[in-house]
Amino acid sequence: MRLIRGTPVHRINLRARINHANHGESGALSADSGHAGCNENSRHAGIAGSRLLGGDATISLLFMIAKTLLPQRVVNPGSWARRGARSREGSCACPGWAGWAIVPHMRASEIRQLIRMKPVELDTTRRRLGACHDIGDLRAMGRRLIPRPVFDYVDGGADEELSMEGNLRAFRRWRFQPRALPEITTVDTSARLLERDLPLPLALAPTGYTRMMHPGGEIAAARAAQRYGLPYALSTMATTTIEDLAAAAQPDLWFQLYVQRDSGMNKDLVDRAAASGYRVLMVTVDTIVTGNRTRDRRNGLLIPPELTIQTLASIAAKPGYWVRMLRSDPIEFANFAGQRGFTIHRTGDLFNPAASWDDIAMLRDRWPGKLMLKGPISPSDARRAVSLGVDGLQLSNHGGRQLDRAIAPVDLIAPVREAVGPEVSLVVDSGVRHGSDIAVALALGADACSIGRAYLYGLMAGGEPGIDKAIDILTDQFRRTLHLLGMRSAAELRAHGRELLVAP
Ligand code: FNR
Repeated sequence: MRLIRGTPVHRINLRARINHANHGESGALSADSGHAGCNENSRHAGIAGSRLLGGDATISLLFMIAKTLLPQRVVNPGSWARRGARSREGSCACPGWAGWAIVPHMRASEIRQLIRMKPVELDTTRRRLGACHDIGDLRAMGRRLIPRPVFDYVDGGADEELSMEGNLRAFRRWRFQPRALPEITTVDTSARLLERDLPLPLALAPTGYTRMMHPGGEIAAARAAQRYGLPYALSTMATTTIEDLAAAAQPDLWFQLYVQRDSGMNKDLVDRAAASGYRVLMVTVDTIVTGNRTRDRRNGLLIPPELTIQTLASIAAKPGYWVRMLRSDPIEFANFAGQRGFTIHRTGDLFNPAASWDDIAMLRDRWPGKLMLKGPISPSDARRAVSLGVDGLQLSNHGGRQLDRAIAPVDLIAPVREAVGPEVSLVVDSGVRHGSDIAVALALGADACSIGRAYLYGLMAGGEPGIDKAIDILTDQFRRTLHLLGMRSAAELRAHGRELLVAP
């Protein structure tokens, strides 16, 4: 309403506009400056204003309502014409809301000619996702729909969350110097990672307890990954078993291992993953002790959730979430039958605090496929890993959920690449929220990025279609960034991108 009323009459060529309206001509209308025709045509300003605003259903609805409801005294065109005539020539005394004057003189069919009604989306999920235009929007939507302890579990980091904040800052501080006029019509976003071609240099990182965010959980993520041709890594702490996931979806499947105290358990998990067709084993090395997730402690988060006063309050506040959860199978650590009622902090009891390079050597012997290490791996540790037969590294500080004040993985790309050479696969995660983050990572020498929260926000906002939405957003942003940089392909950016980055 403010926009309609505020349309400055003197900026619009009213005569041109009414001609369009009356003769049903199509084509863009120009708004020019000058005050010509202001007095006599102030009644047309509403048409112009509405046309400029385009097909916004709300605006058109307001027009209709105004047309029928506004008192004639307010919208009497004659009174505005008289006031206009009193104004000095060359200046416009029409008030900003003179646009109302046209309303009583328009037929509904005329209004329809000028404003296209946007179809109303009846599907709630599609409508919600349609309102999300970046990962931040998905996060905000997730926050609106999901109980606070669950949202915080995803969104939060360790201790003072300095690593988490640092991850975002480290990506965003880079600036681009694009190539001018590169004569590019299309860009190729594909990439190669661990001997597989990907349509986008992106993987879905392992996340524990994924069914707590939405019953679709790990299977929803793996199906989305399969649809987009991307790798998906199943967590040791998943709420879907290794076997069930492989039966439900077959993307490029990776299995993420936390080295357990019980070495028999390590062997068992790895053998099950190999038997189920997982191609890559990714060993997470930054969880010898669990991070101190302050938000989870404050929220008293339990897996599976238990009925407390807090839970009851959150049921009342987010009934949609609870109806979904109560209709689905109970959440449990699917790969460890019988471990119930854990706090997030106690999961660390399973992990081996004394995990060592010998474990990596053992796993290399046992695992038939590609082997990766995941953590904030230094250049010297990276060299050591490669000497043990590790095929790739996922540079990660666990999204800031483990060691607080850990180096941002994006800052490790260049030194680790220099240490291991061009052949070792480098994936980077922690802080990827935009396609331009992927561009920065590639320009610094990474082969791909991996996302955790970005797809979990999508999952919380809209289940499996929400994950699709997150991938769509990142794909579109990455493609546009490549194009604006003047790069023909992700491969070109990977090879020559460093010249386009301006040091922070
Ligand atoms: C994780 N992450 C993780 N990593 C891992 O190796 N095993 C796991 O079980 C989990 N679980 C997990 C749960 C949740 C809720 C989050 C947010 C993250 C870390 C994950 O794989 C990845 O490293 C980070 O999520 C990357 O940072 P961004 O993209 O979230 O900023």
